[in-house]
Amino acid sequence: MSVPFIDLSRVVREVRDEVLADWAACLDETAFVGGARVDALEAELADALGCRAAVACSNGSDAIVLALAVRGVGPGHRVATSDLTFWATYEAIVQVGARPVLFDVDEDLHLDLDALFEAHRAAPLDAVVLPQLFGWCAPRTVALRDWCRAEGVALIEDSAQAFGVALKGGASVLAGAPLATLSFYPAKVLGGASDGGAIVTDDPEVAARLRVLRNHGRADHYRFAEVGWNARMSGPNAAYLSRMLARRDAIVGQRRRALDRYAERLAVDPRVRLHRGPAGVTGNGYLAVVTVEGWTGDALADGLRARGIGCARTYPETLSQQAPARDAERAMDPARARAFCRDVVNLPLFYGIADDEVDRSAGALLELVAGG
Ligand SMILES: Cc1ncc(COP(=O)(O)O)c(C=O)c1O
Repeated sequence: MSVPFIDLSRVVREVRDEVLADWAACLDETAFVGGARVDALEAELADALGCRAAVACSNGSDAIVLALAVRGVGPGHRVATSDLTFWATYEAIVQVGARPVLFDVDEDLHLDLDALFEAHRAAPLDAVVLPQLFGWCAPRTVALRDWCRAEGVALIEDSAQAFGVALKGGASVLAGAPLATLSFYPAKVLGGASDGGAIVTDDPEVAARLRVLRNHGRADHYRFAEVGWNARMSGPNAAYLSRMLARRDAIVGQRRRALDRYAERLAVDPRVRLHRGPAGVTGNGYLAVVTVEGWTGDALADGLRARGIGCARTYPETLSQQAPARDAERAMDPARARAFCRDVVNLPLFYGIADDEVDRSAGALLELVAGG
């Protein structure tokens, strides 16, 4: 019996009746773009994360563009980011007209902050986009916020994958973020019924300007205060996300437990490493990130698929290996990021995964590598 890498139908089954009623109301009210459901989602999201304000938008990519724009990042600016992230992080920097500067990762697979601080001393950076990846976050996120504030460097935390990640004491990593972005792509921990995203901030004035920027820079219906974007969220998607948000404890709790189960099962082979992030950070169980000594990610993925186990490779290549980024400024050799990309494989992990599916996936991996 095969195991899917992801199966969204399980959560959909759970919310189906509630969502159908919400969507019927959206039809009856013709509440298609923005409106009360989007306002409600923003309030619920800010409350759930412990942030002062949340601004819903079209997707996690536009969220980064808007966040860079609200900080005034644009042409002539150098923006540091990690060479190991989803392509959208890079795109957003280029789309506002700024120049990406790429860094390798540390042992927790996040932007190498020591290298960043050193590079800034040699040639000042204007902004940092910090990707918070894999289901945990950069261990020194709070220190980076302080450093950026002191140095006058804009910081955008690309937290597309980080809903549900907590710091010591249990508060969301987003609670104290000056400016952070989320993606609600359906496969994310908090997934929508369409593309969706949000920006959270500790500054209500920044939130107010973001609401203008995401809506064509509108001051009024046909008066425009700035050149903005159409980056609005739909009413039906906001309604669906509110239903998901109400289940956040169950969703994150079950993902964490599945990851704990993987850790127990995989511990029998010392060559198998399940990456879980640094001490002091409680992950959200977004991805089961595995590397195996002596194996490439492609060989692991082929072997798993041959055994009926769905898998992914997040990510098979770095940013600087992508054709449009070949000439991007590299602050250092991204050796660690490249080695990780060569080796990584992701096992099935999603809300609703059964214990037995975790056991079979872990068992298939162990059997595969025992034979090689
Ligand atoms: C790290 C990271 N940044 C940005 C994005 C872009 O989000 P979206 O797909 O909602 O545009 C994603 C989503 O895949 C992501 O994982």
